Amino acid sequence: MTRGAFITVEGTEGVGKSTCLSALDTALRDSGHRVVVTREPGGTALGERVRDLILDEHDGGLSGEIEALLLFAARARHLERVIAPALADGKWVVCDRFTDATHAYQGGGRGVDRRWLESLARIVHEGLEPDLTLLLDAPVEVGLRRIRGREHDRFEKEHTDFFSRVRAAYLDIAERAPHRVRRIDADRSVDAVNGDLLAVLREFTARFEGAGK
Ligand SMILES: Nc1ncnc2c1ncn2[C@@H]1O[C@H](COP(=O)(O)OP(=O)(O)O)[C@@H](O)[C@H]1O
Ligand SMILES: [Mg+2]
Repeated sequence: MTRGAFITVEGTEGVGKSTCLSALDTALRDSGHRVVVTREPGGTALGERVRDLILDEHDGGLSGEIEALLLFAARARHLERVIAPALADGKWVVCDRFTDATHAYQGGGRGVDRRWLESLARIVHEGLEPDLTLLLDAPVEVGLRRIRGREHDRFEKEHTDFFSRVRAAYLDIAERAPHRVRRIDADRSVDAVNGDLLAVLREFTARFEGAGK
């Protein structure tokens, strides 16, 4: 059996990742794919506990390096238990954030060394990379405005400069990995964003399934 495709959705807070995930899930199911939707941090019992550790307030705070180690430990479990088995079974995996988020938040946002993060990724990924990454991009204030009413976690309480560094790091990844990252202008209506998403998805699906034949 050909393995399924691994699709990740990235972007800063409130940019529309969860909204986009449900559109992707529907479109993929409608076209006959078996889909697993998951998220990081999270996706396994261990991952959800790490998510709580990372997103909740702590008395002393956590350094970017400690955050990254926790995230990669949870990611190793997520890959082993959820992502790799689903892909091997021919399912398509759609993940709300993945390693690019660690580069963007811990690397760009908190200043953790990029090469150190890349070496952790090499160990933990064991050669697996997303086949397609949808980077939803909008000015930081647009996303923050969209989530103004909701309760904020440790990251969502960060300042605009932090998110500007995160956004810049994401755009840098898009430039360095054009073979898999597609930037989508998220500062538009949900319909316009979904229109682009679905066009990118159709083009990707044709290429991915064409290559598998
Ligand atoms: N393109 C858009 N235009 C306006 N509002 C949007 C758009 N996309 C999402 N939203 C709204 O913004 C809020 C944050 O969206 P969400 O998908 O939860 O973002 P994220 O998962 O990236 O934090 C939600 O209330 C959602 O309905
Ligand atoms: Mg979300």
